[in-house]
Formats: sequence, structure tokens, C-alpha cells
Amino acid sequence: MKLRLTLAIAIAVAACCPKTKTDVYLDPSKPLEERVQDALSRMTLEEKVALTHAQSKFSSAGVPRLGIPELWHTDGPHGIRPEVLWDEWDQAGWTNDSCTAFPALVNLAATWDRELSRLYGDCIGEEARYREKDILLGPGINMGRTPLNGRTFEYMGEDPYLAGQLVVPYIQGVQSNGVAACVKHFAMNNQEVRRTATSSNVDDRTMYEIYLPAFEAAVKEGGAWAIMGSYNLYNNQFNCHNKRLLCDILKGEWGFDGVVVSDWGGCRDDDEAAAYGLDIEMGTWTNGLRGAASDSYANYHLARPYLERLRDGRASVEGLDDKASRVLRTIFRTSMGEQHFGSFNSPEHYAAARKIAAEGLVLLKNDGALPLQIPQGGKLLVVGENAYKMMVVGGGSSNLKTKYEIIPLDALHEAFDGKASVVWERGYVGDTTTDYNKVVTGQDLSESRSAQQLLADAIAAASNADCILYIGGLNKSSGQDNEGTDRADIVLPYGQDELIEALAATGKKMIVVNISGSPVAMPWASKVNAIVQGWYGGSESGHALVDVLTGAVNPSGKLPFTMPIALADGPLKTERQYPGIREEGKQWWQEYYDEGVFIGYRWYSSKNVPVQYPFGYGLSYTTFDVSDVSVKRAGDGFKVSAAVKNTGSVPGAEVVQLYVSDVESSVERPVKELKGFEKVFLQPGESRKVQFTLDRRALSFFDADSHAWVAEPGEFRALVGTSSEDIRGEVSFKL
Ligand code: BGC
Repeated sequence: MKLRLTLAIAIAVAACCPKTKTDVYLDPSKPLEERVQDALSRMTLEEKVALTHAQSKFSSAGVPRLGIPELWHTDGPHGIRPEVLWDEWDQAGWTNDSCTAFPALVNLAATWDRELSRLYGDCIGEEARYREKDILLGPGINMGRTPLNGRTFEYMGEDPYLAGQLVVPYIQGVQSNGVAACVKHFAMNNQEVRRTATSSNVDDRTMYEIYLPAFEAAVKEGGAWAIMGSYNLYNNQFNCHNKRLLCDILKGEWGFDGVVVSDWGGCRDDDEAAAYGLDIEMGTWTNGLRGAASDSYANYHLARPYLERLRDGRASVEGLDDKASRVLRTIFRTSMGEQHFGSFNSPEHYAAARKIAAEGLVLLKNDGALPLQIPQGGKLLVVGENAYKMMVVGGGSSNLKTKYEIIPLDALHEAFDGKASVVWERGYVGDTTTDYNKVVTGQDLSESRSAQQLLADAIAAASNADCILYIGGLNKSSGQDNEGTDRADIVLPYGQDELIEALAATGKKMIVVNISGSPVAMPWASKVNAIVQGWYGGSESGHALVDVLTGAVNPSGKLPFTMPIALADGPLKTERQYPGIREEGKQWWQEYYDEGVFIGYRWYSSKNVPVQYPFGYGLSYTTFDVSDVSVKRAGDGFKVSAAVKNTGSVPGAEVVQLYVSDVESSVERPVKELKGFEKVFLQPGESRKVQFTLDRRALSFFDADSHAWVAEPGEFRALVGTSSEDIRGEVSFKL
């Protein structure tokens, strides 16, 4: 009683003390931890609790009495979301918040370019800072376990090394602007189907080798200031308060000192939220995703229930201090840190968006039809909805309001103005929606023609065309590349396969551009002259695509995931594996990662399953030779080197890839795993030496029994090539 009274007096005194300029917590030149402790020592229990939950759809409280500002969160990860209403998803209708839309993260991953990832992070960080946002909800780095995952477009492909290498510079770029990158969705959140009700049951080896390394790199190398817990469960405990993931691994093994933010509505339990590593509960409703009265933030798991538990001793004050310290640290790193002002919608940002979008385009096939050659006064027939449809709006939380979006058709008109006529036929009707969360594109996508008529019109228009340029694929509507839903198959929707076949049967030169954020089947590949894998390229997507089609930019993108022939070829064969099953006595859906470490190319190449286009694959308008692969010991590890030469007639870039194969192993390992890559720009005839370092970890598997990375002595092979299936040289070495 006495102690309580003294404490209450102390707090009252602290509370009465006006802050002065010498207050440590206000001084950005003081060490971060001193500032945190100083602020913490001045706060009441209620003030600390207020830091740990949302106060509006996208903000959490600061400490108004001490002049410590709120934290403003924003999606992420492709641009800065428009302002929303206080308690709604809908945009608020401001007129000064249209942003630069950057390419989807899968497009960035396809660049295989660390510098471009840094540029992306720098630019989006500047936009966030200008808009006075402190936490950017991204990037997303969940692994491509199934090609059906509706959010594949928001992630960085199917390989942990590639994603890890690209996420680090992105984070550093964002955070150099005093904005926290909130890396998501931690972890094993690899599907949208029943994403809030499925337990991902994964063995340790698989988790440590496949699903955690990109997050580990984000924390340990990227120095991420924030991590978002995912909606799903891992081993039957929700990930926003999963003890193993958050307390043992993230904050324990990796020493993460930043803030764990829940996915919106992902916090589901009062006691676990208090105890297991969650620092800020964000969301819409009081009761997880199950609904409640709106604007009820006081009832959040980490609001009133938490306060009650702290008062009656069911939750510990040390635990609260840890959460509050992490939130304070985030505020002192961002809005109360070194001052930054950012910039918004600058020509530099649009130029960066165009460059990244173009560098990620992947040339899958070319028999000489590209770059486009249309005779003066000739006719280019463009077919397909995606030549016209704007794609920045839609897809879920990555939906953006951009200042402008260049569609491919407009960019083609611009490029061929005065040279050739560009005629568009829609060919099929896909998605006619033009709005999302009250953001509108302003396009009219209504169509009165029947499917047969659309096809007949496209075929008729082909008769006097010099070339058919088909631009189709997926879009961001429900069941396509979209948050909250998965696809049913990898077959192109809306009868596009038939349409492409019919157009190819006209005998005209034909180029297909598939715009999608995830793998699609291409049964017509042998019947067309060229294929380009396009992505959701953001504000400048049309320009970027036409840059590559005309040869203004030489394509250098590489697939960040495997393009299978058919869905059935992949590793997920049973409902147990995907999308999960019901089991007696278990409250949630159960999903078992029975395929282990064999996802993506690890599966296809180890099991000798043919694919349409392999991981790491992509052509150029020039050709490259890779030779002289050699290996030598270097300290504890090895150095692998190779020579790469541009053997064609135009400048271009090749991504030289190093895969490692463990020949003698006591456990079954993939026949190859990516452990290094370098993107090299070369003039015609120019050659360069590339070097890769292999440390022990690069040679190791994760041994669950000893909970350690193990590099077993014996023979290894270093495979150097231009895709996972195009190995140009290899050498053996012994550990
Ligand atoms: C998504 C997150 C997103 C959050 C806020 C959730 O539904 O899963 O990725 O950042 O909403 O919009």
C-alpha cells in the first residue's frame, strides 16, 4: 500500500514537471537508450499502455503530455497509401496525397539488382517521410510456396537468398529517411485462403532454411526497425503473439530490438498479446477479425484488458516496459530522430519507378520478333485488356492512388506516333472494376460485345496487321493477384489461351506480353514468336514495357520464381499441404509443410520435373558467355569466380548465378541452391570477372536436433550459370 502511494506521488510529481530543453528524451544527440529510459521513467502505466494499441485505422498513440508524437503507419509496400478516414479503409478524399506508384515487389525481385532495391527503398522512404509517415508497412518477403498465393505480387519470389539480398538494401533505403520499414508477414504466411484460421505446421529444418532466412537478413543485416506479425498461426498459436516466433527466435536468437506490429486485426487473445512479443496491436475491430463496434480502440486486447491484467498482476510491468521501450525507440528513430523532410512525386521518383519496372521485365522467348520492327506506315495490332486497364488501383492493402499511370497502349501510341498505326482490340473481358476503397481510375471498362464478337473482331483486325502484340494476363481482382484470395489454377483466365491460339493461327508475327504478379501456364508458348513477362509496374508501367519492346532498354530481368507447365507438377500434392484440412479436436485448419525444403526450383530440379521457364531465367537482346569457373579456399570458406562476356552486338546485362550442390550429405538436400548472384552490365565484346564468397553457412543445412547450421565435410559443387537450369560451368571442391 505504502509502496503504491509513493509510486503514485512520484508519478504525479513527474507528471507535473514541465519538460525542459535539457530533457534527455527530447535531445536527438543523446544515445537512443538513454532517451528511451528517460521517457519511460516519466510515464504513467496508462500512458505506456496507450502506446501499445491503435488509436485509429493507421495510427497509434504517442505521449501528448510529454510532446512525444503518435506513430503514423502506412501501406506499403509499393507506394504511400492515400489518407484514409479515421476508422475506415476508404480513402479520405484528400487532394494532395496521390503518390508515385512503384513497381510491385515481384517486379523489383525480377531485377536481381541490389542497387535498384536500394533506389526503391530510398524513393519510397522519401515519399513516406514527406507524407509524415513513420512506419512503412512493407516490404513483404514471404516465400512463394504455391503459385496460387494471391499476394505473390507483393513478395520477392521463391528463394530465401534472393529475397534476403534484395530486402536488405530496400530496408536501408527506407530507414535512411527516418522511416521504419515494417517487414511482413512474419511468418509462414504463404497463402490467402483462410489466412486467419490456418495453422502452418512446419518442421524446424524447413523453417530455418526456407521461411526464415529473408527475415533474418532483414533483421540482422538490414537492421529493420519493425516487423509485422502475420494473420496465420504457426503450430497452433497465432503469429501476432507466437512465443516461439517472436520471443524465442526474433527477439531472442536474432536480437531484434525494434517493434512488433500486428497485422490489422491479427491479434486474437488478451493473455497471449500481453505475454508473447507483440508490441503494437493494430486493426479494425476489438475482437480480432470477428467484428465489433467501430472506433472501439479502448477495447483492444492491448488496451483495457491489458490494463486490467497489469493492475491485478496477471501481466508484468517489465513486459509492459519492454513493449513501451520498443515503441519509444521507434518514435525516437523516426519522427523524433535525425530530421528528414523527404520528397513526393518528384521527377526522380517517376524516373526510378520507370527504370526499376523496365529492368525487371523478363524476356522469355524471342525468335527475332523483338525489338518491335513495324514498317513506316505499317500497323501494329494490340490485343488484350491489359494493354488498356490501369492496374495501380486494386489488389488489397497495396492499393494506391497515383498521380498518373501510363498504360501500355498510350505508351505505344507515343512511341509509334508518326511511324505506324497502333490499333487496339480488347479481345476478352476480364475485370471491369475501376475503383477500390473509393480510389477510382476514371476509366470506363464496360463492354457490350459478346465473347465471340470480341474474338472475331480481334481476328478480323489482324488481317492487315504487320504484327500482333498481345497484352493480357491476370489483374488485381478477386481470385487473381489479390489480397484475401488465392487463384484456383495457374491457367490464364477469361478464355485467353483460346484467344492467343486463335490469333497465333492467323500466321501473323505474334508477341505475347503476360502481365501478372505470379506464375501462369503458357501452353501456346511454341506457337508465338516472342514472350515477355510483365508485372504490375506502377505509375510508369506502360513506358517501361514499351522501352523494352522497342529496344530502348535491353531486357535483363530474371524470373524470381519458376514458371511451371501445370499446377499439378508442383510440390503441393495433398490437401494436407494446401490449402489445409480439418482435424478433430483442433480449432483451426491444419496445414502441413510435408514437402519440406523442396519448394520452387528446389522441387523441380531435384525431382527432374520439366518446367515452362525455370527460376533465374531471362533472355536479352544480346548474348553472353560464362566461362572459366574456378574455386579457391578463402579463410573459413571459398571464393568462386567466373568470367562473363557480352558476345552480341548491343550493350546489356547478365545475372551470373551461383548455385551450390552438396554432393555428400547425410540428409536429403536440393540438388542446387542459389548462394550468389551478380548483375553485370557489359558493352558488346566486353568481359568481366565476377566473384562470389561462400561462407560456411552457405554450405550448411539446418540440423534440428542440435539446433545449429551444419556444414558437413565432403564434396560440394559450385554451379555457375544464367538460370537454375542453364549451368554454364561447374567445379568441385572439398570441405
Ligand atoms: C494486410 C497487411 C497490411 C494491413 C494494413 C492487412 O490486411 O495483410 O499487409 O499492411 O492490412 O492495411
